[in-house]
Amino acid sequence: MTAPVLIPGSFDPIHLGHVDVVDQAVELFGAVVFGVLHNPDKPSGLFTPDERVALAEASLAGRANVSVRAFTGLAVQAAADVGAHCIVKGLRTADDYAVEQQMAQTNYSVTGIRTVFVPCRAEYAFISSRFIREIAAHGGTIGHMVAEPVARALAGKFGTSP
Ligand code: PNS
Repeated sequence: MTAPVLIPGSFDPIHLGHVDVVDQAVELFGAVVFGVLHNPDKPSGLFTPDERVALAEASLAGRANVSVRAFTGLAVQAAADVGAHCIVKGLRTADDYAVEQQMAQTNYSVTGIRTVFVPCRAEYAFISSRFIREIAAHGGTIGHMVAEPVARALAGKFGTSP
């Protein structure tokens, strides 16, 4: 069986840019574990880890060789737990690279696991979970940035229409 790659992130919530990176990673590497992890820089989430997993499963439904799991602790431990042969991260901009390069080098220094960067498709490069939460909280349009179950869940959280 092909060793999967791990795509770790906080995914609060998953959006179409994340889905695109999953699709690219399956094409490149064969199998993906989509890992919902805690980012200590983002302590208060909108969705619980269980809700994020459910929304990721709904957004990625029907894809072969993709599984979704929540992990506690380090990304490198999650990668070891699933036998991942590398970590994959999507990049939108040079700002993303600055942050991701340091994480990749730190993770490599801890266990020797490598991180492969995949640029997201240009049409998704502006999408961010933070802005989706902010816009949805005020009833703005987010349906072009997320899968339908996520739009519904956001509307449910904020009492707006999807
Ligand atoms: O989607 P995000 O918030 O940019 O993802 C960041 C995430 C969750 C991948 C990162 O914070 C992480 O790896 N958290 C797990 C704890 C860990 O491994 N910390 C060391 C990072 S070098």
